[in-house]
Amino acid sequence: MRINENTLLEGKQVFLVPYNADHVPRYHQWMCSSELQKLTASEPLTLEQEYDMQRSWREDDDKCTFIVLDKQRWADPLFQEQECMVGDVNIFLIEPNDPSVAELEIMIAEPNYRGKGLGKEVTHMMMCYGVTKLGIRKFEVKIGLDNKVSIAMFKKFNFHEVSVSEVFQEVTLELAVDEALRDRLMEDMSFLQEREYHKAQESRHTATGHDVTNARRP
Ligand SMILES: CC(C)(COP(=O)(O)OP(=O)(O)OC[C@H]1O[C@@H](n2cnc3c(N)ncnc32)[C@H](O)[C@@H]1OP(=O)(O)O)[C@@H](O)C(=O)NCCC(=O)NCCS
Repeated sequence: MRINENTLLEGKQVFLVPYNADHVPRYHQWMCSSELQKLTASEPLTLEQEYDMQRSWREDDDKCTFIVLDKQRWADPLFQEQECMVGDVNIFLIEPNDPSVAELEIMIAEPNYRGKGLGKEVTHMMMCYGVTKLGIRKFEVKIGLDNKVSIAMFKKFNFHEVSVSEVFQEVTLELAVDEALRDRLMEDMSFLQEREYHKAQESRHTATGHDVTNARRP
């Protein structure tokens, strides 16, 4: 969807930015890893297919995606944005007649960044964004039965198990968003800042005189 095409969300350790064509090569590299394919139940794609996927995530009204950037690294304009990428997070509206029900997906793709609280922070940020900007009232996650870390993380957010598929070897967890949860999410995320992505990119580059006119925009 296009709602977040110029949105930068600033957390404590990360920035969430819209998934652009510039991010695709690094994303494609990640998804060549058989470990990540297994953990995220993804099929390998060619680079061209990955560009098509990026366009579909941008244009389809039922999908919203952000790339997760290392905030500290991004603050140094000598690093290309691709070098600051650590993962992604998605919301997918799964009920054609009810846009308040969403599947949530998260990936901290860089192994060195796992286990440092980023997964929790990003999930929290995306839940806040989904509830306040997209009107989500129910989240669902599908997780491989072997993926104990992810199951533990979502249970910490009070997701509860609704079904197990022996065929797909995955568990489905859900979380309904009531007023109390909404208030709690907002309170815990009081540090969350929303800024204009393109302006933030420009000021980052003008700090060192880098030319961003060649930066591809979708
Ligand atoms: C699952 C994933 C998003 C978690 O993110 P993360 O940044 O590694 O996790 P965090 O450091 O934020 O920790 C979140 C919770 O996960 C659990 N966890 C994290 N590392 C763990 C480990 N090594 N062993 C067991 N549980 C662990 C804990 O419950 C932790 O909460 P706590 O710190 O309060 O105890 C991340 O590991 C990842 O993307 N892995 C690869 C792709 C994937 O599995 N995606 C999910 C598909 S459904």
